[in-house]
Amino acid sequence: NVGSSTNIVWYECSIGRLERQKLLQQKGCVIWITGLSGSGKSSVACALSRGLHNRGKLSYVLDGDNVRHGLNSDLSFTAEDRAENIRRIGEVAKLFADAGVICITSLISPYRRERDACRAMMTEGNFIEVFLDVPLHVCEARDPKGLYKLARSGKIRGFTGVDDPYEPPLDYNTEAKERLFVSM
Ligand code: PPS
Repeated sequence: NVGSSTNIVWYECSIGRLERQKLLQQKGCVIWITGLSGSGKSSVACALSRGLHNRGKLSYVLDGDNVRHGLNSDLSFTAEDRAENIRRIGEVAKLFADAGVICITSLISPYRRERDACRAMMTEGNFIEVFLDVPLHVCEARDPKGLYKLARSGKIRGFTGVDDPYEPPLDYNTEAKERLFVSM
């Protein structure tokens, strides 16, 4: 039903983003962590959130696995559902950022187009894409949940990196200001 709402009007609340920023003494933004399963997204997201918290900054982690337990529990791993998963998390992250929170997302988000659409929702500079550039063979050797093994034996179909695509960001070196690349 995307885009099917009609007869609706945006209601502007008297308390705006700037006032919330002032109250919290910080600026909300989205730090979007992308990478293969097993690349360390959740660990990096939580370590980052801890580091920010210890410095008195309010952050919140939207983890793909966790969000799939609730808001996105109706979504599978088809291309269409992954795109919807990314879109919804992008929308929620945008709300968190508007609330003044540093929102850290950690989901595979394998498609460039959908990640770029999430960036486009945000004010310039308020979306930082972090690509965990961990080679497939390293993720597969880690296999923390045993899912690569199941995918290789055909028990899981459409597993990212095995028989489903992952599209890394293209412009590693040219957009270093907006995109942070971490090799682990
Ligand atoms: S996506 O592609 O962004 O919608 O994926 P995400 O919401 O991050 O969910 C990925 C986690 O789900 C588990 N899982 C799979 N991953 C990839 N492909 C398939 N088919 C699949 N099935 C289940 C897997 O544990 C992923 O967790 P992480 O934390 O990335 O290892």
